[in-house]
Amino acid sequence: MAASAITTTMEAYPCPVPAHAGSLPPSPPPTARPSRKNSCREWDSDAQLGSKPYPLPPKCAPKQVLFEDLKTPDRHVERDSRLIRLTGVHPFNVEPPLTDLYDEGFLTSENLHYVRNHGHVPECTDNEILDWSFTVEGMVANPITMTVRDLIEDYVQQTYPITLVCAGNRRKEQNVVRKTKGFSWGAAGLSTALWTGVPIGDLLSRAKPMRGARYVCFEGADKLPNGYYGTSIKLNWCLDPNRGVMVAHKMNGDVLHPDHGKPVRIVIPGQIGGRSVKWLKRIIVTAEPSDNWYHIYDNRVLPTMISPEASADLPDTWKDESYAIYDLNANSAICYPQHNETIPLATESSSSSSSYTFRGYAYGGGGKRITRMELTLDKGKTWRLANMRYPEDDYRLAPEGDTLFGGEVDITWREASFCWSFWDIDVPVSELADADDVMVRAMDDGMMVQPRDMYWSVLGMMNNPWFRLVIHREGHSLRFEHPTQPALMPGGWMERVKKEGGNLSNGFWGEKMGKEDEEEAAVQEPEKEICMTRADVKRIITPEELEAHDNDTEPWFVVNGQVYDGTPFLEGHPGGAASIFGVAGQEATEEFMTIHSENAKAMMPEYHIGTLSGSLTEKEEPADPTRAVFLQSKSWVKATLETRDVVSHDSKIFTFKLDHEHQQIGLPTGQHLLVRLRDPATREAIIRAYTPVSEVDDKGKLRILIKIYKDSGEQKGGKMTQALDAIPLGHFVEFKGPVGKFEYLSRGLCRISGRDRHVRRFHMICGGSGITPIFQVLRAVAQDAEDATECNLLDGNRGEEDILLRSELDQLSSAASGRCTLLHTLTQPGESWTGGRGRIDQALLEKEVGVRKGEQEMVLVCGPEAMETSVKEILEKMGWGEEDMVFF
Ligand SMILES: Cc1cc2nc3c(=O)[nH]c(=O)nc-3n(C[C@H](O)[C@H](O)[C@H](O)COP(=O)(O)OP(=O)(O)OC[C@H]3O[C@@H](n4cnc5c(N)ncnc54)[C@H](O)[C@@H]3O)c2cc1C
Ligand SMILES: *[C@@H]1O[C@H](CO)[C@@H](O)[C@H](O)[C@H]1NC(C)=O
Ligand SMILES: *[C@@H]1O[C@H](CO)[C@@H](O)[C@H](O)[C@H]1NC(C)=O
Ligand SMILES: *[C@@H]1O[C@H](CO)[C@@H](O)[C@H](O)[C@H]1NC(C)=O
Repeated sequence: MAASAITTTMEAYPCPVPAHAGSLPPSPPPTARPSRKNSCREWDSDAQLGSKPYPLPPKCAPKQVLFEDLKTPDRHVERDSRLIRLTGVHPFNVEPPLTDLYDEGFLTSENLHYVRNHGHVPECTDNEILDWSFTVEGMVANPITMTVRDLIEDYVQQTYPITLVCAGNRRKEQNVVRKTKGFSWGAAGLSTALWTGVPIGDLLSRAKPMRGARYVCFEGADKLPNGYYGTSIKLNWCLDPNRGVMVAHKMNGDVLHPDHGKPVRIVIPGQIGGRSVKWLKRIIVTAEPSDNWYHIYDNRVLPTMISPEASADLPDTWKDESYAIYDLNANSAICYPQHNETIPLATESSSSSSSYTFRGYAYGGGGKRITRMELTLDKGKTWRLANMRYPEDDYRLAPEGDTLFGGEVDITWREASFCWSFWDIDVPVSELADADDVMVRAMDDGMMVQPRDMYWSVLGMMNNPWFRLVIHREGHSLRFEHPTQPALMPGGWMERVKKEGGNLSNGFWGEKMGKEDEEEAAVQEPEKEICMTRADVKRIITPEELEAHDNDTEPWFVVNGQVYDGTPFLEGHPGGAASIFGVAGQEATEEFMTIHSENAKAMMPEYHIGTLSGSLTEKEEPADPTRAVFLQSKSWVKATLETRDVVSHDSKIFTFKLDHEHQQIGLPTGQHLLVRLRDPATREAIIRAYTPVSEVDDKGKLRILIKIYKDSGEQKGGKMTQALDAIPLGHFVEFKGPVGKFEYLSRGLCRISGRDRHVRRFHMICGGSGITPIFQVLRAVAQDAEDATECNLLDGNRGEEDILLRSELDQLSSAASGRCTLLHTLTQPGESWTGGRGRIDQALLEKEVGVRKGEQEMVLVCGPEAMETSVKEILEKMGWGEEDMVFF
């Protein structure tokens, strides 16, 4: 790491000795902890903590190793599936949903705390925590090698709240204006926790920095393509107790979670999160700033005119310390209303005095306090003042001698603000109805106010213009539109305005401000194309050749029909080799184009090796999004996951958004469709059949009821269902269809393998999620009053709680009473169960279905394979022929 010529002078650095350094009563050594598996801290708030005048951390929910992580080096890390992944599966970079973050309150649980990892998470088991060692070295008279045990036993511990903020918070807004070299954080790249540890000044004063030393470098245990992660800050900040820089080993009272630096890390209040090095191994005192690759090429705001291409060739600009980011800038966001939240407009009957309470967060940098928060409804002509709340100040009220999690709570003397603050303001709905948008800005105690306009820069960091929501008046309500949604999630006014041809840099948020502006928009240049191929590459590569390179040694992949060899870049890829392995032997256009910067694209010719001849497995021309019918029988078409609603303990209704609101699904009754999703970790395509519960003439949306098979001790969970459960909302899934040899036309008329047949009575036999195709037919029969067909449904499940679509089935059978009968049978019924008991076996089938009576009766069966096989055998013995039975 750093170029720190150690000076020979033994003169100690002339710095104030922090109050507590040296002779201290050692804190009690931490007691052995149970494994963290599925649990967090389990302190008993009453017995151990008594009553405190300040907020305590929220309890955290159980976590588990997530399906997506199994194939990555992070397979040892338990996580919360609510976190939104910003860089694909790996490395792990996540923010919580903004509303969840705000709703947790002042302190963020370990579950939802944002994470910025550059590579894999170093492993440290609970048993290894106390023996983890790190150094204080470089320009010090007294170099120290110490363990976490020493840190805990030899120094006074402190506990205080700190808000960490990623320098990339709100970067998605910059990326919509012009793609930067960073990935797309929404406005939830920040979190607050109670940290316990030792002020770094106490360690440094024992090590005795030498004269001439000015910087302190930190290095972690995370080995990355360009060396271990490392950075530096100034020595005098480390020595200043006001700055609060801490060597921390507990977060919210618990040992550090692996994603947050287990077992020990640096935490720097008021500065960007990128300086708070995790998995700490070395503290190095130097005369110069860190020369670590990540210190130089990350966490900077280069001048706005430097383009991504130009930046690739400006080493001295990157090294210029005046562009390095340390203190945060003032920033704020609106959390309520949420994106797409609607509020009703006052009607004549309701009171016209109703108002809406806007709420959100604000933070400043370097210990500065946000002293005011203002809101405008007229684009900044006039402002109104919001109420401020500083929960951090409650900790200043801690009684003398108070301790928490083994650390002293003593910040009364410190004036600095290390945490986010909250604001709120009531605005009459009638005034909102007259406004186009609402914007907020924060001012700090240095009277610096958030700027109106964005300062775009090549890394897209420190984005802090006024936070703006657009107000849409829709019928009798108002809908609020946030600027963006995180990651690749669609939504937000910025994307919409850009798509409509607006220029987001025109000084008016891309809105057309009269004729002149419209003319300007009309001549707008299309986005710059970057050449990613080499003219002298003439090789033609067959799909077979490409697919043979699907391994980790020679990964090839395809972007825009061109083949690239990722082998030489495995070491250098900022996302790690795993990001390239993930697309080996595959088509990667969409993923590549959405994630990568102009710079990365410009590097592609170097890896270009040929042109793909023909297509991979099948031709995939994007379908015309304006088409009337969604499903296409010969090609995969995409829809995005919009909501996932829990309907039972193991089932959810997945709603997908089609291309437009008038688009028909195109699925005849009784048929199913195929769903294709790439395994988020292996990229292998998973394909499964589903029968949507949407009505035949539903438009614009596709709803599928899916039972999720989770891993259980003895049984491996379902591939597709777990993957579907894990993808973020806004992610796309592919569909193809319709498929199936059976179709119910109407009034008893069926078409089976192209042959029509009239049916008077259906026997419908199903188990578990096998109800879905059967439900389609039953619904078509029951909803048509003119349809005289009879249905006899036998639905087998384990427990009452496993019965899917129960109330819908009850409704249909009562609507068509006389024609449709319904029998639920359970293998594990509760005591109060009055329906059928036991499996769908011979006795039941003899009683409820009986022998074959002729052409006019048919049996429809859908369920687990074992059930289908046994039903078939039994019915055949009763005279039913193959042509009388349909197995979905
Ligand atoms: C025509 C048709 C329509 C279908 N419609 C629906 C539908 O609307 N909704 C729906 O949820 N499913 C439906 N299915 C089932 C669906 O296709 C998948 O089989 C199911 O979602 C499991 O896929 P998976 O990849 O998660 O499990 P897999 O990875 O294929 O299976 C892994 C493990 O999961 C468990 N498992 C998987 N399937 C079952 C099962 N059926 N019963 C018991 N345990 C199982 C087993 O332990 C198995 O070993 C339908 C199937 C067909 C053929
Ligand atoms: C928000 O509402 C708009 C308009 O109804 C819709 O187009 C959009 O898909 C919704 N969701 C998101 C995430 O933007
Ligand atoms: C957008 O407007 C700004 C300011 O007028 C102008 O400098 C820029 O070139 C415009 N961009 C495009 C793509 O037209
Ligand atoms: C990976 O694929 C390439 C191309 O097919 C092949 O030459 C190489 O031997 C494979 N390596 C391994 C470890 O399978």
